[in-house]
This record gives sequence, C-alpha cells and structure tokens, in this order.
Amino acid sequence: MANPIDRIGEILAARKPYDRIAKDLCAHLRASFAHYGWVGVYMIEGGETLVLQAWDGPAATEHVRIPVGEGICGLAARESRSVVVDDVRTDSRYLRCFLHTRSEIVVPIFADGEVVGEIDIDGDKVGAYNETDRIFLEWCAAKLGEIHRRDDSRP
Ligand code: SME
Repeated sequence: MANPIDRIGEILAARKPYDRIAKDLCAHLRASFAHYGWVGVYMIEGGETLVLQAWDGPAATEHVRIPVGEGICGLAARESRSVVVDDVRTDSRYLRCFLHTRSEIVVPIFADGEVVGEIDIDGDKVGAYNETDRIFLEWCAAKLGEIHRRDDSRP
C-alpha cells in the first residue's frame, strides 16, 4: 500500500466532485491515523451556518448544522483560525457529539481568503493533537480549498 501521504495526493488529485474528495479524505485520514477517531468536513452555507458535508466514523446525530460563532467549530470559522482543545470537558464552548470524545482539532478551509468550511477531528484521548497535526491538517485544508474554488468556478 502507498504511504498515507502519497495516498492523500492521489485522493486530492482525483477527478471527482469536491464532496466526494472530501469524503475520501475523511475516510483515509481516519484509517491512517489512530488518534483521528472521527473526521468530518463542514461547509458554510448562507454565510452563517456550518453544515456537515462529509465524514468518517460514527454518525453524528447532533450538531450536523452549527451556527458560525457557536461551539469549537463555530469559533474556528468566526475567527478564521485553527482551534485545538486538549480536554473538551473543560471547555464550555464545546458542543458534544460523542460521549467518548476528549480532544478536538478544527482547521478552517479557505477559498480566496474567505473561510468556506473546516476539517473537524475528534479523538478519545486528552491532548491528542499537537502542532504537527495542525500543520498537516492546514495543508489538507488548503488543498480542499483549492478544489472547492475550482469546482465553484466550473460552468
Ligand atoms: N464538537 C464540535 C461539534 C461537532 S462534533 O465534534 C462532530 C463543536 O464544539 O463545535
């Protein structure tokens, strides 16, 4: 099997619509990295609501639509920055999707300088995400942003 990073290149280069690429990326990230327990991509609709577009892991029954500004996801979107929470039990902004989640990392997806969505990852251990995760996921998000912009500009 190709190494995980090479495989990401293949997923991102596939001639598929944005939502399919996002879904493939979620599945690949979760399968490749044990500390990525749930991987989702939210996209902003109407400028003010994050809508879960693709994911891999248990089905989220709550918070599939999150107003920008609410929760950790809404915070990252409103402030256009990545957010890492080491222990969600101590963060009152956190919106709970899964009982066993302890850590979360949310990384915005930009297109033309605007936040258009985000990658959201949950893990079961406290302090699961570090700077390497942030930098890596920001790279993935930048690629998704390019693909989103390309799809948007298609006639
Ligand atoms: N925890 C997120 C909500 C989404 S779930 O993690 C899938 C938040 O606080 O915004």
